[in-house]
Parts: sequence; C-alpha cells; structure tokens
Amino acid sequence: MKILVTGGAGYIGSHTLILLIESGYEVVVFDNFCNASKESIKRVEKLVHQSIEVIEGDIRSRANLQEVFDKHKIDAVIHFAGLKAVGESVAQPLKYYDNNVNGTAVLCEVMAKNNCKTIIFSSSATVYGDPATTPILEDFPLSATNPYGRSKLMVEEILRDLYVSDNEWRVVLLRYFNPVGAHESGTIGEDPNGIPNNLMPFIAQTAVGKREILSVFGDDYETIDGTGVRDYIHVVDLAQGHVNALDRVVNFKEPMTINLGTGQGYSVLEMIQSFEKASGKKVPYQIAPRRAGDIATCFADPTYAKEVLGWEAKKGIDEMCADSWRWQSNNPNGYRGLI
Ligand code: NAD
Ligand code: UFG
Repeated sequence: MKILVTGGAGYIGSHTLILLIESGYEVVVFDNFCNASKESIKRVEKLVHQSIEVIEGDIRSRANLQEVFDKHKIDAVIHFAGLKAVGESVAQPLKYYDNNVNGTAVLCEVMAKNNCKTIIFSSSATVYGDPATTPILEDFPLSATNPYGRSKLMVEEILRDLYVSDNEWRVVLLRYFNPVGAHESGTIGEDPNGIPNNLMPFIAQTAVGKREILSVFGDDYETIDGTGVRDYIHVVDLAQGHVNALDRVVNFKEPMTINLGTGQGYSVLEMIQSFEKASGKKVPYQIAPRRAGDIATCFADPTYAKEVLGWEAKKGIDEMCADSWRWQSNNPNGYRGLI
C-alpha cells in the first residue's frame, strides 16, 4: 500500500515515516518545508536504509497535489501538514484558517477526484477546551479557545461531513495529547523555530545551555504541586498509533475519533525533575505568572484506542526525557548543524 504523508518532514511525520516503512508501507512525502528541514528526511533515509520520495508542494495548491496523484497510485493519506503555534494563530487567524482548514479542504477535493478516500487526520486534545473532569473521553464536549484549536475542530467537522456525503470515505481523527521525545537514535527530533512555545523543547534547550532559565507558567493551579498537568506521550508511541490506524482503517465503517495519550498526567515540576535525572543536567527555573489560555489539567482516557486500534503507549517518562536529551545534546542547533 502506498501512503501519502503530508507534513512528513515535520516532527511527528518524520517519526511516523520510519514505522510505516518498517511495517511494509510505501511512502510519499508531501511538504512545503515551511516548518521543517530537508535534513530530517535525509536522516530518516539513513535510519531505514532506503530513499524516500519527496514532493515539495503546498496542500493549498490543487496543481501541486495533482502532481502527486499523477505520479503515484495513493491508497491512503496521513495528513500531518498544518501550522501549530497557538500564539501565532491568535495574531494571524486567517493564516491558520487558510493553511489548516482551506488546505485540508483542497487536499480532500483532490483526493476524491483521484478516488483516494482514506484519510488519517492529526487532531489535538485542544479540541476539549477546558474539560470539566479528567481523564478525557472522546465524547466530552468540544470547544476551542484560539484559532488553532478552532481550525482542528473545523477540520474534524469537514471530514465527518465528507463521510455523510459519501460513505466510501474512511476517516480517522486522532486527537494527540502532548507529543515529546525523539527517535532513540538521537538523529531526528523536534526542531522548533526560535524560542520554543512548548515545555519539553524549552527544558531541553535550557539543559543544553541554549536558554538561561525556564519560566514555569503558574504554580497556583489545583494540581499536585500547583503547576500544570499534561499527558506527555512519546512521539514513537504516537507514530505507532498511526500505523495501527492504517492497518485497521478499511474495517472502519464510520468516522473514528480516537485519543492518543498515555492516560497519565505529569506536572511541569515533575517533568523538570525527570529531565534532570535523565540528562544529569540542572534545569534552572523560575515561577512566572500563568500563561493566558492555559488549563490546569489535561490527560486522556486511552481505553478506546486500545479497544479499536489495539494500541497503547509503551514508553514512560524516563524514556521520553532520555530520548529528548539524546536528540538535543547531539543536535544543539537542531537540523541546522553546529552553527
Ligand atoms: P510540524 O510543524 O513539525 O510538522 C508539520 C509539517 O507540515 C511541517 O513539515 C510543515 O513544513 C508542513 N506544512 C505546514 N503547512 C503546510 C502546507 N500548507 N503544505 C505542505 N506542508 C505544510 O508539526 P508536528 O508537531 O509534526 O505536528 C503535525 C500535526 O499534528 C499538525 O497538524 C499539528 O497541528 C498536529 N498536532 C501537533 C501537536 C504537537 O504538540 N506537536 C499536538 C496535537 C496535534
Ligand atoms: N509550560 C511552562 N513553561 C514553558 C512552556 C510550557 O511552564 O515555557 C507549561 C504550560 O503552562 C503547561 C505545560 O507546561 O502547563 C505544557 O505546555 P505546552 O506548551 O508544552 O503544551 P500545551 O498543553 O499548552 O499545548 C500543547 C500544544 C497544543 C496542543 C495541546 C494539546 O502546544 O498545540 O498541547 O495537544 F493543542
């Protein structure tokens, strides 16, 4: 089976390519490299000992996408391509609606035209807004607090509508919790542009000496130690969830919405402590005010994923921190090399 992986050069996409290839799938990567480096693909090629077909293009371009379908008989699409910076989405909402929502609509149109009607979509736990209780089940109420989150909600609805219009569509909506970690080789990982927004890359860059001090956003939440609690999931476990979804997707007779999380929450201070243990480095931090829009606690109930995908996360917090550290310490400047 040949799988089109949009956004395949990015953080989660690059890890997923490895598992797809190891599971016997053929892959074609489609990426405009707006938030990725060609080096990530080169490194994946080394890890899998084969070359990977990459088509550079934008999901908003019918012509770019048609080029893929002219060249390849694509059986299914794993759709990672999208913009993901919450703060930027507040400042530039139209950019997010155009890229994430319009981009997905164009992708689906070209897929349908070429009779490819299977899509696995990267959704996010952000669609649960501020949940009344945890752990979070898939049927919890949905809401969004920023344009990024709304773009995910809108795409979920679009894909459900598509199925209603044509039952031949196979749709899987995977709601990721907080992806962290890196491939155990330490050669691929998360490579944020500029100052990281997310906790794990900020911790890793502080440990390696690129950042002076980590700000802990709030210590007065109703949590174990007052700091925010999240469900961190190893990116390789997350990647495996996509392979399981692909293996089973032909049998899914209606759109499937599935949490991909571990079911375990950790606080910011617990993450810092685990990272220090894994890296042997100090992570200096200071308590700062709460970050606007943050919630106290977010973790998944992953029972449904186990039931329908036969999937559960296997890697714990120690491995997440050790693998993030290996990537960060081997590549202090990410894919840009030792500048
Ligand atoms: P990423 O930025 O590393 O990867 C996204 C990739 O898509 C990049 O390679 C980028 O160049 C590409 N891309 C973006 N817009 C494109 C376009 N218009 N045309 C072609 N390519 C385009 O992000 P990631 O962390 O790997 O996330 C992958 C997906 O998972 C995204 O849709 C993201 O919203 C979603 N997600 C991520 C997280 C997270 O915390 N990392 C959490 C939940 C959901
Ligand atoms: N945090 C800090 N300091 C930092 C960064 C984060 O204390 O420098 C705290 C946050 O306040 C939060 C926790 O660390 O309590 C995790 O924050 P992240 O920014 O890493 O992750 P979020 O849970 O806020 O959001 C992430 C993605 C969203 C996605 C969501 C659910 O950024 O896009 O997970 O998948 F929607």
